[in-house]
Amino acid sequence: MREQLLAAEKVKAIDWRDGKLHLLDQRRLPFEETWLAYDSAAGVAEAIRTMVVRGAPAIGISAAYGVVLGARARLANGGDWRAALEEDFSVLAESRPTAVNLFWALNRMRERLERLKDGETPLAALEAEAVAIHESDREANLTMAQYGAELIRKHQGNPQNILTHCNTGALATGGFGTALGVIRAAWLNGLVERVYADETRPWLQGARLTAWELAGEGVPVSLNADAAAAHLMKTQGITWVIVGADRITANGDVANKIGTYQLAVSAMHHGVRFMVVAPSSTIDMNLESGDDIPIEERAGSELLEVGGQRVAAEVQAVNPVFDVTPADLIDVIVTERGVVERPDTAKMAQLMCRKRLH
Ligand code: MRU
Repeated sequence: MREQLLAAEKVKAIDWRDGKLHLLDQRRLPFEETWLAYDSAAGVAEAIRTMVVRGAPAIGISAAYGVVLGARARLANGGDWRAALEEDFSVLAESRPTAVNLFWALNRMRERLERLKDGETPLAALEAEAVAIHESDREANLTMAQYGAELIRKHQGNPQNILTHCNTGALATGGFGTALGVIRAAWLNGLVERVYADETRPWLQGARLTAWELAGEGVPVSLNADAAAAHLMKTQGITWVIVGADRITANGDVANKIGTYQLAVSAMHHGVRFMVVAPSSTIDMNLESGDDIPIEERAGSELLEVGGQRVAAEVQAVNPVFDVTPADLIDVIVTERGVVERPDTAKMAQLMCRKRLH
């Protein structure tokens, strides 16, 4: 199936070339495909903060390239470049709080720095590490897509109606996508009847990005208001809810885009299976449970305004942009290391003991 999936790769959102990080501006999709070029760590941090690039794996990959850009400038300035580079690590780490892939990628870059041998060129070593992070995410996507599609095939033979939330596709990763990668692989193998895409208020990742990615590939997709999800589960024969993750803790709790938790509650009520798809770089074994995950709050204006136009009464808004789905509402977590059914602390520990594949 791997070759089939590679042949189907279409969209990409991150391009490292000519010594610059090129990002497809996701704020402008689906109307404009504009690429922005970054040549500094601070610029990349700003791109993450303002959501030019978003999605947990894509944020981590971009931050790794941000470290390369920071190192290049610090080395050119001379002096204690390693101490100066710490500022870039901090600025990048402060760009967004919830997706652990950001901190995972920064740690990997720092570890590479610490392993530098005498005579090694720091910049070349850091660049190779960032490229490896990017490439390994792409490979992880392909592996997860195959595992997830097999689960769908195993549990029901006929083409399925699947509901998804937020955007977890090529735009959110270094390759084929996580949850959307599974859905695309399932579609390519005749296992999907229709995809229901939650619009994903307030940033509209579903309406603007997921619908665009799926429609571009000819996958039958219907956009629905987030509030329609339970009704659709009841009336449209949905058999799977498939979502990504921003951080999975040691007990199998999952932080993902706001609205995921209520999907899991509804799915359990309706007997709909609930799959989470994420690379192991999203798993944070340092946190015991989802209660410990920092949840990003964004500006109230994202709710109070639509397209810059005020639509709400003169009130305050509360805008947490992630929530935590407890492990006991999850049927299966799919990672590139393997699949965990009915996750708990023991099973997550076992998974993380398995060898990294990429
Ligand atoms: O705020 P965003 O758009 O960065 O949130 C993205 C999500 O919540 C995704 O579901 C998650 O990062 C998984 S992406 C493969």
